[in-house]
Amino acid sequence: MATSGSETVLPIREGEEEKKAEQQIDPWDVQAGRDENGNVLAFDYEAISKKWATKLIDEDLLQRFERLTGHKPHRWLRRGLFFSHRDFDRILDKYEAGEPFFMYTGRGPSSDALHLGHTIPFSFTKWLQDVFDVPLVIMLTDDEKALFKEKLTFEETYKFGLQNAKDIIACGFDLKKTFIYSDLEYISGPFLTNVWEFSKLVTFNQVRGAFGFNESTNIGRIMFPAVQCVAAFATSYPEIWSDKPTKERTKALAKIPCLVPMAIDQDPYFRLVRDNAHRMRYPSPKPALIHSKFLTALQGAGGKMSASDPNSAIFMTDTPNQIKNKINKHAFSGGRETLEEHRELGGIPEIDVAFQYLSYFEDDDEKLKKIEDSYRSGELLTGELKKMAIELIQGNVKEFQSRRNAVTDELLRQYMTPRKLEWKGNPNPKPK
Ligand code: TRP
Repeated sequence: MATSGSETVLPIREGEEEKKAEQQIDPWDVQAGRDENGNVLAFDYEAISKKWATKLIDEDLLQRFERLTGHKPHRWLRRGLFFSHRDFDRILDKYEAGEPFFMYTGRGPSSDALHLGHTIPFSFTKWLQDVFDVPLVIMLTDDEKALFKEKLTFEETYKFGLQNAKDIIACGFDLKKTFIYSDLEYISGPFLTNVWEFSKLVTFNQVRGAFGFNESTNIGRIMFPAVQCVAAFATSYPEIWSDKPTKERTKALAKIPCLVPMAIDQDPYFRLVRDNAHRMRYPSPKPALIHSKFLTALQGAGGKMSASDPNSAIFMTDTPNQIKNKINKHAFSGGRETLEEHRELGGIPEIDVAFQYLSYFEDDDEKLKKIEDSYRSGELLTGELKKMAIELIQGNVKEFQSRRNAVTDELLRQYMTPRKLEWKGNPNPKPK
């Protein structure tokens, strides 16, 4: 057996290189690692946090959050679905002092309907918006998706974007505090100037490393990161603060920090903006980030819900029956082969997809703990567990659908109109 410190080098067997693979996570490709036998492993989120030097969200940070905001942390924070951050503590400092900040998130419109996994960052962002009471911008990267998906045209991604925006609105965002925009439609004036200014600060060598570009990459793709990056500068949206763009005002706007909720695969973009924000003509602070894991595919850990594989995902357009069938048929089970075995050995909640979904959608900690214990002990059966998950998700999707039905073209236009937003911020800032 290898002792610690020894450097045992295992001989490479034939074919091993292809079977064994490290996980791959970047904005365009997300794949879990594989073991020597080619079996898909669960995502290793601690490893990605370590590799990219992000901070894990810990108990101290959550306690401070609760102390300052008076809100119990969202179950997705308590249960580690949002697991990592950069400078979230600095945003809490701003909140504590009653100083302004804003939030930014986005969606790449590559299909016309969202699945459950897509709604998670948005529902979480909506919750943060309620807690902090700050302005929020939501970017639809119709430019990005047409540039990166060979088959999609700019017309198609623009239309998907509008459809997606209706789904996003159905997550419950407050119209007064939320501006949603299509890149193709909105980007001009101060935003576009920021894009060009930022592009001047970043070389091809820098983005090629971060995004894996090469000399044959179309130049739109090479330019695009500047677009996603400068969206984190308040100076890209002066009308939200109704500022006259004088030099002094722009300088002050630039100082308003930004918090970006996102799935961890988007982090490379924001490393780029964090590295360069201070070099802008009107220097900005580094945007703060809060990262989520991916929502597990029905097939289990190591996969994420994907729009291109209908059996991997619950779509927000699914009927109650489709949800039931998908979970019953496809949700990977941590139960045992036979009833006797299950009663004797108990289920394994850690790998059970129905249990994971329950843990993301059941808010009651005590109730969840009871379910977990009883599944682990073998008392609760897979079928019973799945039934609970089905009911919870059916309820969630149904509520979403009724909000979605209420989103008219007229309402969509209101969210997408550049305008002054209204918000209050922290009602009880700490006196200085
Ligand atoms: N590139 C993202 C996607 O493909 C969309 C996006 C733009 C985004 N800006 C963002 C996501 C900010 C999170 C945060 O989905």
